[in-house]
Amino acid sequence: MNKSEIVIEAKNLTCKFGNITAVDNLNLQIPRGAIYGFIGSNGSGKSTTIRMLCGLLRPTKGKATVLGYDTALDTEKVKQHIGYMSQKFSLYHDLTSMENLSFYAGLYGLTGSGKTQRIDEIIELMQLSEKRTSLAGDLSGGTKQRLALGCAILHKPEILILDEPTSAVDPTSRRMFWNLLPSLAQTKTTILVTTHFMDEAEHCDLIGFLKNGQMLAEGSPKELKDDLPLKLIIMEYTTPMAALEDLKVSGINYLDAYVFGQKLHVLLPKNISTPSLNNYRPSELTMEDIFVYYDKQKTRKDINQ
Ligand SMILES: Nc1ncnc2c1ncn2[C@@H]1O[C@H](COP(=O)(O)OP(=O)(O)O)[C@@H](O)[C@H]1O
Ligand SMILES: [Mg+2]
Repeated sequence: MNKSEIVIEAKNLTCKFGNITAVDNLNLQIPRGAIYGFIGSNGSGKSTTIRMLCGLLRPTKGKATVLGYDTALDTEKVKQHIGYMSQKFSLYHDLTSMENLSFYAGLYGLTGSGKTQRIDEIIELMQLSEKRTSLAGDLSGGTKQRLALGCAILHKPEILILDEPTSAVDPTSRRMFWNLLPSLAQTKTTILVTTHFMDEAEHCDLIGFLKNGQMLAEGSPKELKDDLPLKLIIMEYTTPMAALEDLKVSGINYLDAYVFGQKLHVLLPKNISTPSLNNYRPSELTMEDIFVYYDKQKTRKDINQ
């Protein structure tokens, strides 16, 4: 199997709820082993896309395949090969960590010594050994998250789909979680993850930016930054307001300016000549800038104008 083998594919994938088009003609090709990040503001269609990819929701139009299986027709096959972790973690709070793992292992058809061995592996991998007999409901957010991830990978799925896995956990747990993911991807697990943390998006091999159910931009973090028709300067004055004042007086046609700590970040068209300002320095665009830029576009058409 070569590296560019496509394991998740969507063609004109569309989902309508009454008048709302939650997912609008989405095309997607995710290669095996990639960590693919879906980013986009609330309501942009991330979870709806995921539900169609997992075979939980039928598309209104278009189709999606996972490992070649049509997600609307071969639902059972799709479920066998996917590990899915929802935003809500789907744990049984009145069962212990072990009992949750055992329950999910049963659902995936694991039995006997194979089951015991796999549960032990997961306990080790997810660093849960001290929490074996704790009720899931009593665990911290970060431990719940690792237990839920452990449950999702019990059957060694080739595809792991994680919907906002880190939205309910503290920064230390977020970092620990992201440190775990590449080791899963190295075993050729393909990971599709949604997040609204832009520092997390930097960890992805590929990013798709969704808005109003449409894919506005796609590529590696570096490609997305290079493709943006923008540059960033950072103005450091006594106060950000003083910087903004100076910016306005300069008459420079800037696209956006926002306060970042004590500094003012200013987005300018890439081709604009060096502005006549005091105390500024050029800086690398961040994923945050990319998010802000694309989030302001309504549809793909706006970008090409
Ligand atoms: N079951 C549903 N019934 C009606 N509208 C829905 C349903 N699920 C999602 N939506 C709508 O579809 C849009 C996309 O939602 P969602 O996929 O949850 O976005 P995200 O996960 O990016 O926040 C939103 O406008 C949301 O209100
Ligand atoms: Mg969602």
